[in-house]
Amino acid sequence: MLNFEYRLPTRIVFGKGMEEQAGEEIKKSGGTKVLVHYGGHSAEKTGLLAKVCRILEESQLPYVLLGGVKPNPRLSKIYEGIALAKKENVDFILAVGGGSVIDSAKGIGYGVANEGDVWDFYIRKKAPKACVPVGVILTIAASGSETSDGSVVTNENGNLKRDVGSDYARPKFAIMNPELTYSLPEYQTASGSTDILMHAMERYFTTVKNVELIDGFLESLMKTVMHNVRIVLGNPCDYNARAELMLAGSFCHNGLLTCGRKGDWASHAIEHELGGMFDVAHGAGLAAVWGSWARYVYFADVMRFAQFAVNVMGCVMDYQNPEKTALEGICAMERFFTSIHMPTSISQMGIILSDEQIECLAEKCTDGGSKNIGAFCRLGKEDIRKIYTMAR
Ligand code: NZQ
Ligand code: ZN
Repeated sequence: MLNFEYRLPTRIVFGKGMEEQAGEEIKKSGGTKVLVHYGGHSAEKTGLLAKVCRILEESQLPYVLLGGVKPNPRLSKIYEGIALAKKENVDFILAVGGGSVIDSAKGIGYGVANEGDVWDFYIRKKAPKACVPVGVILTIAASGSETSDGSVVTNENGNLKRDVGSDYARPKFAIMNPELTYSLPEYQTASGSTDILMHAMERYFTTVKNVELIDGFLESLMKTVMHNVRIVLGNPCDYNARAELMLAGSFCHNGLLTCGRKGDWASHAIEHELGGMFDVAHGAGLAAVWGSWARYVYFADVMRFAQFAVNVMGCVMDYQNPEKTALEGICAMERFFTSIHMPTSISQMGIILSDEQIECLAEKCTDGGSKNIGAFCRLGKEDIRKIYTMAR
């Protein structure tokens, strides 16, 4: 097990009707003027936005509204938010939505609290030194951004999707009412659940030994997500199943399940280029590339893939031929993705990649071949090109 530090500064406020506490939570966090940040239409359509406005008014908290965050949030919206927040002297940002809205809110927070161009943080030119406090009312179980330190943003100039992580951006609170996810379309429920599974798998496939306790947490989390997403796809208003997914999304990505181990994150890096270039839903993009990644790297630790096959996917261990078990586990996960209507290849998302596009994706993913991706198996540009080719 590796050395680690762990602290979760985000207050989790979980359960039915908990969004009513938003005003109180903002005040506890020192907010006096709020930028309410939200996405396309869902928060308006469900009435959540009007409810939030009512709650802030009752709490006598002045606010300004900024909607229009797109999935795979854009840098231009962040610039707009920074200008508005500065003009209105906002000192708190309330994200009402999913990962895209939350990440955009964090980007605005960075832009207001630091000098210079906020994009420099995402391309590792500079490190942020502060962030305007962010709070969250979560509407989709997926990215875990409601408790994570990350923000992932797409710069339309070059279609680059990049991330920055710092504890400054961890939300002060995350209000999670599973009922707020009832209105999700099936595709977003499945894509979000896939992202949660992938956050578990990125951590599970580690080369660090003696990490048994967290292995067990991750195995349990993956089985819980697979079980409950099936329930929710049949009955979108099943509170208990929605609650399990919401809890899993946050607990998977708040740092707890990284303790003592090093995650891989190659599948995320490979997907982020697809998101930047083709604007695909993040979870779906991950499902499309994971099987190809897994088949390319499983030889690096066959027994770990076999453990995954047995403990997570319910395969029977073949002690004479563990490689067979490992490969069966990969097939079983792909069958699961298919069963929830997630793609297992890039073409299943309607994208037919040319050789030139694959070259460009591999180039971007490795910064022109200058860096390797992943930790379970270090992958250079040529490896990444092969994985995109396998996944096309
Ligand atoms: O825009 P609206 O109309 O709100 O619709 C959204 C959007 O179209 C819709 N939606 C959300 N809640 C809803 C709802 N529709 C009906 N009812 C509701 N209750 O769902 C769509 C997707 O929303 P989005 O916020 O994009 O989803 P998600 O939470 O999956 O976030 C994805 C983004 O998070 C990033 C991804 O890369 C992607 O950009 N990630 C962020 C991470 C982090 N900050 O730690 C880590 C992740 O690995 C991930 O990279
Ligand atoms: Zn993710």
